[in-house]
Amino acid sequence: MAEKPTILVTRRLPDDVEARLDRDYLPKKNAEDRPYSREELLSLAQGCDGMICTPTDKIDASLIAELPDSVRIISTISVGFDHIDLEAAKAAGRPVTHTPNVLTDATAELAFFLVLAAARRAYEGQKILRTDSWSGWAPTQLMGLQVSGKRLGVLGMGRIGQAVAKKARGFDMEIHYADQFRLPPEKEEGAVYHETPEALLGVSDFLTLHCPATPDTIKFLNAERIALMPENAIVVNTARGPVVDDDALIAALKSGRLAAAGLDVFQGEPNIHPGYRELDNAYILPHMGSATIETRNAMGFMVMDNLDAFFAGKDLPNRVV
Ligand code: DGY
Repeated sequence: MAEKPTILVTRRLPDDVEARLDRDYLPKKNAEDRPYSREELLSLAQGCDGMICTPTDKIDASLIAELPDSVRIISTISVGFDHIDLEAAKAAGRPVTHTPNVLTDATAELAFFLVLAAARRAYEGQKILRTDSWSGWAPTQLMGLQVSGKRLGVLGMGRIGQAVAKKARGFDMEIHYADQFRLPPEKEEGAVYHETPEALLGVSDFLTLHCPATPDTIKFLNAERIALMPENAIVVNTARGPVVDDDALIAALKSGRLAAAGLDVFQGEPNIHPGYRELDNAYILPHMGSATIETRNAMGFMVMDNLDAFFAGKDLPNRVV
């Protein structure tokens, strides 16, 4: 019987996924479950046939060039692949796979949770109770903003954007969106299309970001664009941190130009801009959009399916390049 392929696995995976990994492969696991340095990654990759990486691993051109030839596939446990230099992987003849579709609902649920948490000042409420400084119910205490009847602007109406819109309709929100292309009416479900992101900003009482980080979207939400939004608007980001200009967003939250923000992703993770920690009106989470048991299992099994197909010489189901 052929030797099982050896796979470098840069972080721990859910138990059921690791059980399948142990059964079908020879995994080199990260027992401590901490991020590897570049040097560790390169040294551990020696003798491996493939690699399972995560969005925290910087798989750039120089790392790809130095990977041992034995590593023939890079499989990320994420839908996003902005941490991988695709051109370099392609040039090196190393296919890259990802995990689309399976995290749509989990991420949309968290995005809508952030809409509500930011609007209803959930962080401040928690703080008052946890610091034992609640003096009791008062008519003017922690008055937030209602979402019913408000306009939700969705930037990027792909799978996740559409799923957030669906949840928002249940809260009686009016949906507006901008994307490169207009959706067909059955997918639009009454949402109002805006030809430009700037036009969308103008009507977004709430703005939820669902676009990838690309050279075109880096620092998209800057001071000029924030100035286009209605007074007291709320921004939610579950997409990628670099889409937001942190200094501009923090300034707008500090001045009260924006009422609040709900953020799950940050530029430079895990070293977030320290300004966010000071803001009571920023509800911040550590990149946990897809962190449900159901979804992380599904993502892990999809990684397995991708590797199985590769090592069986079949077409890759979720190939990026
Ligand atoms: C992804 O999959 O790209 C998320 O950011 C992590 O779930």
